[in-house]
Amino acid sequence: MDNIQLHGAHVIEVDTSADGFMLTPEKLKQTLAENKNVKAMVINSPGNPTGISYDEENLKGLAKVIKDNSIFCISDEIYSELTYGEPHISIAKFIPEQTIVLNGLSKSHAMTGWRIGFIMAPADLIKMINVVHQYAVTSVTDNVQFAALEALTNGLDDGLKMRDVYAKRLDLLRSGLEKAGFVSAKPTGAFYIFAKIPEQFTQDDFAFSRQLAHQAKVGVIPGSSFGKGGAGYIRISYATSEKNLKEAIKRIQNFVKQEG
Ligand SMILES: Cc1ncc(COP(=O)(O)O)c(C=O)c1O
Repeated sequence: MDNIQLHGAHVIEVDTSADGFMLTPEKLKQTLAENKNVKAMVINSPGNPTGISYDEENLKGLAKVIKDNSIFCISDEIYSELTYGEPHISIAKFIPEQTIVLNGLSKSHAMTGWRIGFIMAPADLIKMINVVHQYAVTSVTDNVQFAALEALTNGLDDGLKMRDVYAKRLDLLRSGLEKAGFVSAKPTGAFYIFAKIPEQFTQDDFAFSRQLAHQAKVGVIPGSSFGKGGAGYIRISYATSEKNLKEAIKRIQNFVKQEG
């Protein structure tokens, strides 16, 4: 969101909390009818912070609205390898001429922060993107280029192996959180759980996250930092070892017992 504003564009937030944190074609249509001069919409599937991924039917519906309104779709698919049910589908399958796909090795090959990603878009757009890119990023550091080469040459399936590990961690963390009273929609991708703060606690997600950090020594992200629809929720990541997750669950469960 900040990045969009930094570039002088205006953000229109759509609250999807009533639709299982999924933007429906109807909601998109309504938003576009209420807001003129929209240039592009952003979709992130599988999503951060909810772990929700869009199914084919929903994507087809969104694609139709995008086509009818002649806007672009910026599709952030960084978690495309991490799906726990149906395989990942890109909206580019339906509207390639209007989609800008963002992806990279951060999540599939645990290279977060290494600053290597890729973009797929219609050729005309890529030409313009290159103009900006040329002056924003001279080149990726050489050690990272070698790591990317190795990942793409000899480790193309490594992300799939990791997916099974993440799926196990998801079950472990989700059932641990459930026992502590945290309800969440079952994530179908990425590596986050977006959980409702149990009723007996403050629903101020910033205050709750701070309390959890200070008292239980567990770090989570307040849900409302992702938008208004996230108020009363926390995001917890399972991109850490099973040992760390077991410790975190123990601490959260003890916290709930003592403070709830
Ligand atoms: C939705 C989403 N897109 C893109 C990224 C990009 O990650 P990086 O900047 O490490 O490439 C992240 C990482 O947290 C993410 O959650």
